[in-house]
Amino acid sequence: MKITIDGKKVEAKRWDTVLTAARRAGIAIPSLCQLDSLENVGACRLCMVEVNHPHWRGAKLVTACEYPVESGLEVITTSEEVLRLRRANLDLLLARAPESRRLQQMSAEMGLEQSGYVRPDKGTACILCMLCTRVCEKLGCNAIAPAGRGLDKRIDTPFGGYPDTCIGCGACAAICPVDCIEMTDTAKTRTIWGRTFEFVKCAECGTPVITVEYRDYAIAHRSLPADYYNECSDCKRRKLAVKFAKVGG
Ligand code: FES
Repeated sequence: MKITIDGKKVEAKRWDTVLTAARRAGIAIPSLCQLDSLENVGACRLCMVEVNHPHWRGAKLVTACEYPVESGLEVITTSEEVLRLRRANLDLLLARAPESRRLQQMSAEMGLEQSGYVRPDKGTACILCMLCTRVCEKLGCNAIAPAGRGLDKRIDTPFGGYPDTCIGCGACAAICPVDCIEMTDTAKTRTIWGRTFEFVKCAECGTPVITVEYRDYAIAHRSLPADYYNECSDCKRRKLAVKFAKVGG
């Protein structure tokens, strides 16, 4: 189907959102809480766009990551109102996480020098984008979830207690756009969400490969051979290269 984005005719697929169609056409729309493999929740509101249709009575403002395309849709990504709303939303996020490099970079791109808001509390920098909970859910662990309300809303383990189902994979910390999930790795252990995990060490070089719980979980759920994580990927690659060299030689 055809839609129009900023006056340009764009081919869109039936299940596209405005954001995916725009990206495919090389039209940039800022986004923070969207990841293709995760369900969209429209948390950051930075992807606001204006949509209109010849059959409608007027335009509306929507989040591009959630809005499904339809034939004849007209999208404007840079109207004054769109830019004002994006900046206002970014201003609020920046007030929560002023140290975030990612937010600082987006602020510079959107012409926002610093947040106009002052936080009433000194809480975590979490911007509640829910990327961490969505990736945890996608992995099937559900070790963390939103808790509390209003200013007290936060991401936490069930009842703030021991995260039984956490496997220490670190995906939540890796995906966090404001780096606010504490994860401490040593040569032997990883500590995250108040729980400490032992690492599986590479049988060749001793490098930490993955936590014991993550290994067991991955082997059980991905039909991998039991010795799959016995060696780190560098050692596996090195061994493979030696093998190929012998075959070639
Ligand atoms: S990317 Fe659309 S709301 Fe965050």
